[in-house]
Amino acid sequence: MHDDIEKVLLDEQQIIAGIDKVAKQVTEAYRGTEFTVVSVLKGSCVFASDLIRRMPIPLELAFVSASSYGDGTTSGQLDLNFFPAEGEIRGKRLLLVDDILDTGKTLSRLKGELMKRGAAEVRSCVFLDKPARRAVEYDADFRAFEVEDLFVVGYGLDFAGRYRNLPYVGSLKKEAYAGLVDG
Ligand code: IMP
Ligand code: MG
Repeated sequence: MHDDIEKVLLDEQQIIAGIDKVAKQVTEAYRGTEFTVVSVLKGSCVFASDLIRRMPIPLELAFVSASSYGDGTTSGQLDLNFFPAEGEIRGKRLLLVDDILDTGKTLSRLKGELMKRGAAEVRSCVFLDKPARRAVEYDADFRAFEVEDLFVVGYGLDFAGRYRNLPYVGSLKKEAYAGLVDG
């Protein structure tokens, strides 16, 4: 797996430093209020678990699942696969946590759905932000890192379902794309 990586963009130490910083910002923003961290599966599972362990305040945890089909490096049709029960949404302050804010379609759609289902507030915290790629007007309230317009994998981010378990963030070699897209 490591052999498929062209370049490491964020190593484990950089990632932890960035998460420490954003975790402090989120902690101060929510201190003294009740809120729920809503992890967007699958990509945010690694980030969300490191993030919440650096927030020493009471919080609840919930999950939503969104997948965008078009098995390549661009997002296709978006499917929202499951939501928390109504009791976990209605009247609650929610913090959506996602791996990457790219076109913005996933988070803006999720926010709309959650508000429609009665959430009191929906904010977001993303591991990576690619502002150059935005297609809809949406900005995250918190982000750990801004990255250039380059397809990346690792630390939860996948290509065709793989590489989520890499402990760092890197770009893929051309051969790795070709192997999975064509085969
Ligand atoms: P959106 O375009 O903001 O809706 O982003 C939707 C999803 O696209 C993210 O949650 C990721 O799963 C995926 N995505 C966008 N950019 C990348 C990338 O560079 N690597 C891996 N997945 C990505
Ligand atoms: Mg993905």
